[in-house]
Amino acid sequence: MELMKNQETVLVVDDDHQASSMMTDLVISCGFQCVAVNCKDAAMNIIEKRRFDIVIADIETMDGLHLISDVRKIQSDVPFVVVTGYGNGFTYESIVTAGANDFIKKPFTPAELNSKLYRILKERRMAFDNSQLLAKQVAANKKIANLLEIALDLTAEVEFANLFPLIISRVTKIMNAERTSLYLIDWERNEIWTTVAEKIEHFSLPIGEGISGLVAKTGETVNSADAWELPYFKREFDLQQNFRSKAVLCMPINNRSGERIAVIQVINKQGGGVFNVDDENLLKSLSSQMAIAIENAQLVDELELSFESSIRTLSATVDARHRLTAGHSERVTEYSLMIARNMGLGPEEEELIKYAGLLHDIGKIGTKDSVLLKSGRFTPEERMEMERHAVKTKEILDNFHFSKTLAQVPFIASHHHEHFDGRGYPDKLRGEDIPLCARILAVADVFDALTSARDYLKYTDTETMSCDPMPLPKVINILKNGADNQFDPAAVAAFLGCMADALLKYRGEHFPPSYVDEMIEILRKA
Ligand SMILES: [Fe+2]
Ligand SMILES: [Fe+2]
Repeated sequence: MELMKNQETVLVVDDDHQASSMMTDLVISCGFQCVAVNCKDAAMNIIEKRRFDIVIADIETMDGLHLISDVRKIQSDVPFVVVTGYGNGFTYESIVTAGANDFIKKPFTPAELNSKLYRILKERRMAFDNSQLLAKQVAANKKIANLLEIALDLTAEVEFANLFPLIISRVTKIMNAERTSLYLIDWERNEIWTTVAEKIEHFSLPIGEGISGLVAKTGETVNSADAWELPYFKREFDLQQNFRSKAVLCMPINNRSGERIAVIQVINKQGGGVFNVDDENLLKSLSSQMAIAIENAQLVDELELSFESSIRTLSATVDARHRLTAGHSERVTEYSLMIARNMGLGPEEEELIKYAGLLHDIGKIGTKDSVLLKSGRFTPEERMEMERHAVKTKEILDNFHFSKTLAQVPFIASHHHEHFDGRGYPDKLRGEDIPLCARILAVADVFDALTSARDYLKYTDTETMSCDPMPLPKVINILKNGADNQFDPAAVAAFLGCMADALLKYRGEHFPPSYVDEMIEILRKA
């Protein structure tokens, strides 16, 4: 059998100097490196310091069987060959049971030894190759599982604002990178832009500039060991952030039609090194999922924008039926959102308030012109007709298709005239039976009515009531006095806390600048 020339090292343990020397020569002649020791302690000492590919020990002259178990405590997988003489009482079974891989009886020929060493090393290499293959398979399975998990996560996220950080965090993790940036390509504006990039502020770049801009322009992947060596890399980004970009992998993201819609860039492998072909393939397989997720989120974003603009237009149209109520619903919405934020409500409540605020008076669409536009005191019947707009709001909005998260909009919008003490309309709800968002709308609604020019004569018995906006101190008194009876005191308190912002928001637009400045001075002193 042809000997394998290799670098494997055999440890020979034998206290007989002559036998040890012969065995060493034989092992070397078989093509192996060899280290020889003459006792168990020496064997244990050296095996703690370096790895061996085979241990050959004579068990006639020393406690070989114990040596096997001691060696295995340190190198559990090292093959162990026992050398025995005739008539020593050891059987093949007893030696194998003690943990040896094989044994060889003295005297033996070089060919016998060579054959055994060859077979043992072949088995060892096969076992090693199998474990490598298994490790590769496990890693591949893990990668596929990670990819599937990312794909599911990305597909489930349709909120554009959440998608950026989600993609960035997932890609950074799976690519084992230090940083990731995602840029969307705006072909009309000839720029790439990002809303969130890990540890980088929002910015845009002209297409063609920097690594990402170049990838956007050419569609070619850039994979470099050192970004600073690339002539088009913008070092100023690194210098501003005291960061050193080394390995960079930047790739285009194409949609199903093959159009470039984004660019993904990963920087610096954790622990150093370059991004290899496997990394490129991994990022490429992720890019199609990213493309789908980005386009879905963009579509949802556009649908939401389209829905919101339709609602705003409808709301403004209803307000515009009377010159004195133009912009009313828009302002009520803004004031309500300010109150909600001051009360610590979350984005879901803000969405409800936005649509309920814009649509709260949509029921006026069904109010007769003779009532809505009347300039003068209402008769009791006209007043009832006017108040009916709350019920009509509900009837109209019940025909809208709202998403699950906005399902409460009709109920909230139609209860903006309920009073905290149960004396409002249309259902005389009281306290917390009135939805919190409706209690907030009620405060904002009255504030806007009082601070706008209105036909108060319709609602009062006095002929001397002015149509001018009410002075702010008087408005504040009405809100404060109304807390606990007409209004939720928490909503009033929250509004008083952000009233200056409300005035500033419409300074020069709805409120004369001098009025706002004067009122803010009053609020400051209060
Ligand atoms: Fe109303
Ligand atoms: Fe209103």
